[in-house]
Amino acid sequence: MSRGPSPLRPPFTPFNPDDAVSPIDREVHPVIHVGRVAVITGAASGIGKAAALELAKQGLRIVLADVNEEQLKEAAKETAKIVGESNVLAMRTDVSVLEDVVRLRDKVFEQWGEVSVLMNNAGIGLRGTSWDGLDNWKQIFDVNVFGVLNVQQTFVPYMIHQENPSVIINTGSKQGITNPPGNAAYNASKAAVKSITEGLAWELRQQPTNKLTAHLFVPGWTWTGMTSASAAAAAASSTDTNGNGNGTPHTDINGNATSNPLTTTTHTHTPGSGTHTNGRTTPTKDSPPTKPAGAWSAEETVLYMLDKLRLGQFYIIVPDNETRKEVDALRIMWAAGDITEGRPALSRWHPQYTALFEEYMRDSLAQMQ
Ligand SMILES: NC(=O)c1ccc[n+]([C@@H]2O[C@H](COP(=O)([O-])OP(=O)(O)OC[C@H]3O[C@@H](n4cnc5c(N)ncnc54)[C@H](O)[C@@H]3O)[C@@H](O)[C@H]2O)c1
Repeated sequence: MSRGPSPLRPPFTPFNPDDAVSPIDREVHPVIHVGRVAVITGAASGIGKAAALELAKQGLRIVLADVNEEQLKEAAKETAKIVGESNVLAMRTDVSVLEDVVRLRDKVFEQWGEVSVLMNNAGIGLRGTSWDGLDNWKQIFDVNVFGVLNVQQTFVPYMIHQENPSVIINTGSKQGITNPPGNAAYNASKAAVKSITEGLAWELRQQPTNKLTAHLFVPGWTWTGMTSASAAAAAASSTDTNGNGNGTPHTDINGNATSNPLTTTTHTHTPGSGTHTNGRTTPTKDSPPTKPAGAWSAEETVLYMLDKLRLGQFYIIVPDNETRKEVDALRIMWAAGDITEGRPALSRWHPQYTALFEEYMRDSLAQMQ
């Protein structure tokens, strides 16, 4: 069945991981393999630390790089318990400083001579809006964009000459794809990561040997140092009692107020209010944040990522307990539709388009059942 006027357009087929472009035997993956080397930035906490522990369980040698020395030591200790001290290297590295990244690469290649998994994951979530917070904009771009580029430009020229296959995984965000209002600086930095990684994937495909592949890893709402700190900060500063920060609740089509503290504004929700629009408990000034039901743990996010990596997927868009795969897909298509349909920017959050967006989500989800 053709969906459009062009006979070249492939027919619509529902997503099926078994149809992935280059499925690789799960048992003998050439990259995620005993004795090979994983380098992870931002490895002292959250998703990066969970990746270090999981890859250690799979028998890889682990290089942990992070700017936070204290947490880095602790993460290295935990990793060594799994894979042995001689298979762990921890280096204080600020990814925004090129010299630090070069030192890291030199040490890794001197010690182990290769990298099979490069996880370019360090990131920060400071806030910057369109005409405020320029210093935050600069810091965010230094870490989230130039940090990623420093690592990519330093490691890739070495990795493309390796005999064995390897992967580079850059960590983006759904905020870099659908651009929800509220933290323009973070969104722009993650949009840049998407663009950088797509360009990288294409350039790597032009290489005659083509043994290094790039992947864009887009976590869902994951409970980590970053999200819990945002929640705690919002809790500490909140004076709002209606549970919606600025008093403008955003309710998505599932009826969920989108509650990731990194996402936004219109649903500036709730960390801070104690109760959520849909009844979940979130932190108050008096109670430390605990993982909300809607978020995934870092371990869940990493396991999902590794599964998709094994299938050779470029875009690894991770769901969470609040947003399932189909909802993400429809939101991404709606965002692209703003351009092709001539709607206003970010029409999903435009009062005149709210009803239309909700109808689109409802009808499309019903069709997908
Ligand atoms: N948690 C989520 O819901 C979520 C969602 C989408 C994307 N992400 C992205 O996932 C990545 C990991 O974030 P996380 O949620 O695990 O947060 P986290 O704060 O728990 O971990 C980030 C780590 O990066 C380190 N770091 C910060 N600046 C650094 C620098 N200049 N050099 C080296 N290390 C530095 C921090 O010290 C920290 O250990 C980030 O890129 C983030 O933007 C997270």
